[in-house]
Amino acid sequence: MSAPSRPTPAQTARLRTGGEHLRFANKLLKSSDVAYGQGFLDEQEESLTLMSAATGLAWEKLPQCFERALKPAEKAKFLALLERRVFERVPTAYLVGEAWLGGLRFRVDERVIVPRSYFVELIPEAIPRWLPPVEQVKRVADVCTGSGCLAVLLAKRFPQAKVDATDLSAPALAVAKLNVADHGETKRIKLHETDTMTALLGGPKFDLILSNPPYEPEGIYRRLPAEFKKEPKNSLVSGKDGLDVIRKLLAQATELLQPHGVLVIEVGGLRDAMHQAWPKLPMLWLPTADGLDCVVLMQAADLRAALAKSPRAGRGR
Ligand SMILES: C[S@@+](CC[C@H](N)C(=O)[O-])C[C@H]1O[C@@H](n2cnc3c(N)ncnc32)[C@H](O)[C@@H]1O
Repeated sequence: MSAPSRPTPAQTARLRTGGEHLRFANKLLKSSDVAYGQGFLDEQEESLTLMSAATGLAWEKLPQCFERALKPAEKAKFLALLERRVFERVPTAYLVGEAWLGGLRFRVDERVIVPRSYFVELIPEAIPRWLPPVEQVKRVADVCTGSGCLAVLLAKRFPQAKVDATDLSAPALAVAKLNVADHGETKRIKLHETDTMTALLGGPKFDLILSNPPYEPEGIYRRLPAEFKKEPKNSLVSGKDGLDVIRKLLAQATELLQPHGVLVIEVGGLRDAMHQAWPKLPMLWLPTADGLDCVVLMQAADLRAALAKSPRAGRGR
């Protein structure tokens, strides 16, 4: 699809109400190359989000502007955001400075990937089923925390737990710090600038280690749509085969899990690659609503047995 041309002043001058602006935006987004999947499903969700930012109206109050004329400042802001989305391919979440996950608001900007993990489906019910009763879960890790969104969801789900959240990127951790504070979790969530779980080795062991690591192979990254390349590359890519961080994580988790503990990792398209890399390791694929089932759960005893027998696969870089 070729990019549409920029709207002319004559075209935009004709737009009056919020509803007219939204219909115009939907049409422009539809006729463009923009890709979805960074926290929004389609053009409707994106244009409503831009309208919310332009008018200052919360989503549920947006109908208030559907039939009224936009004020000049609202119109100018909406059209400027829309142009940046369509012609500069800036993700909507960066344009508005926030993203929502699990009903919670998180600050985001170019320092972090836009939150969109399958873990939002799995943290409430599926993962706790593999653990002791929620109030007995004392230590949880979120490896590769980015904006800190999953660390916050974990802290809310396991109210007695201390959460260690790691990331290699200091700029990402600066955003995570803001989100941890916004959600009142500075006492329970500790942020660590470290490679995978290196800074935690030798410390207390975990009931649960969870990670949404970078998992795209280098070759796939080159073919990603432009807006995905606006996210930090090290949020997405992990070496030639996508497994670099996961390899290290499996080895470290083997050491850092309690005997009853579990490791849960979102792996994207690497399901087959995981089985090839660790053929003896039992892997349970947790079902997700879209049927992709790309989150794997592994138990401590299985990790120990499989990685001890297969030193090559478990070796860190
Ligand atoms: C896919 S993002 C996930 C962010 C967040 N957990 C989420 O679900 O939105 C991966 C994160 O891993 C971080 N990262 C990349 N390599 C890492 C490594 N070796 N050790 C720790 N963090 C790493 C990136 O900086 C990025 O913030």
